[in-house]
Amino acid sequence: MNRRTLTVMALLALAFALIACQPAAATPVPPPQAPAESTKPAPKPEKLTVLCGAQEDWCQAMTKAFEAETGVKTSFVRMSSGEALARIRATKDSPEFSIWHGGPADGYIAATNEGLLVAYDSPSAAKIPASYKDANGHWNGVYVGALGFCSNKDVLARLGVATPTSWADLLNPKLKGQVSMAHPASSGTAYTALWTQITLNGGDVDKGFAYFRNLHNNILQYTKSGSAPGQMAGRGEVATAVIFSHDCVKFNEEGMNSLVVSFPSEGTGYEIGGVAIIKGGPEQEAAKMYVDWALTSKAQEIPPTVKSYQLPTNPDASVSAKSVKLSEVKTVEYDFIKSGEQKSGLAERFDSEIAPAPKQ
Ligand code: F6P
Repeated sequence: MNRRTLTVMALLALAFALIACQPAAATPVPPPQAPAESTKPAPKPEKLTVLCGAQEDWCQAMTKAFEAETGVKTSFVRMSSGEALARIRATKDSPEFSIWHGGPADGYIAATNEGLLVAYDSPSAAKIPASYKDANGHWNGVYVGALGFCSNKDVLARLGVATPTSWADLLNPKLKGQVSMAHPASSGTAYTALWTQITLNGGDVDKGFAYFRNLHNNILQYTKSGSAPGQMAGRGEVATAVIFSHDCVKFNEEGMNSLVVSFPSEGTGYEIGGVAIIKGGPEQEAAKMYVDWALTSKAQEIPPTVKSYQLPTNPDASVSAKSVKLSEVKTVEYDFIKSGEQKSGLAERFDSEIAPAPKQ
């Protein structure tokens, strides 16, 4: 063996030794498994508590239908808009209700600004026109209705006064003690009337209040609920009430046959009735189901069964022939965002400058 052969052999031996030292080819080890996802479905919500801002029988019909469709036991408490907002605000650390349904959007916007509502992107909201909902999903519109005058034609005839067709007509001295409306601190209807006057006066709050200072001379009573003045007119206690027109149609159909609806020629306000999830409410999952349902055409076709004729916001819902279409009345440019921002302050001002809010 010469030196060259020896060197080659030594190199070969070294190569074998190195190969022998290599770890055996690794058998693939499966990556650690994430703990198996529970296949159990999320527990079905059992109950839901609704703060309801429309007519009592509307609230009853809606919550019953939702319960029948979903099996979620649903109860409600009826409150006017201002009361509802005050209650949600006062109980915000431990909310009693998970849903607010019904009542004008001004209240929902005020609540959104105070951080009291949940932003929820409901799949059903896609159907609702942008002008009838909050862009961030804090509230969605479920109905629309125009403000009007609800007069008792027999009382007007006795007084020798024609059916009012303008805001100015309500100031007629012959109507002293013959007009009723709710108080803007408690009622969304009355707040709509207040914002309408401010709008008619080009946004001048003082001029809007001046109108109500004049109207006050003719007011018999400020009620807590927005529609109550219509019943007063129906019973002949006053000649005219400032209420949502659909409530006047309802009372007429329910037997108060002397009631007639009219609208102010200067222009009138209107409402977008809302639905929203209350932040921190005890039944958040059921609340989402409720919003999804309340925006469907099926849910929005229920109100006429209890003689509530607001217009549905879902374009697929059928519209009762008894509903007043907004295109049929002269409406003001109602700025819901501004009216919502100013709701609490203006209601307090009415309370201190025009008349205190009723206790009952
Ligand atoms: O009575 C029904 C209704 O007029 C709704 O259309 C409206 O949203 C609500 O009542 C307003 O009630 P209130 O004026 O008592 O807040």
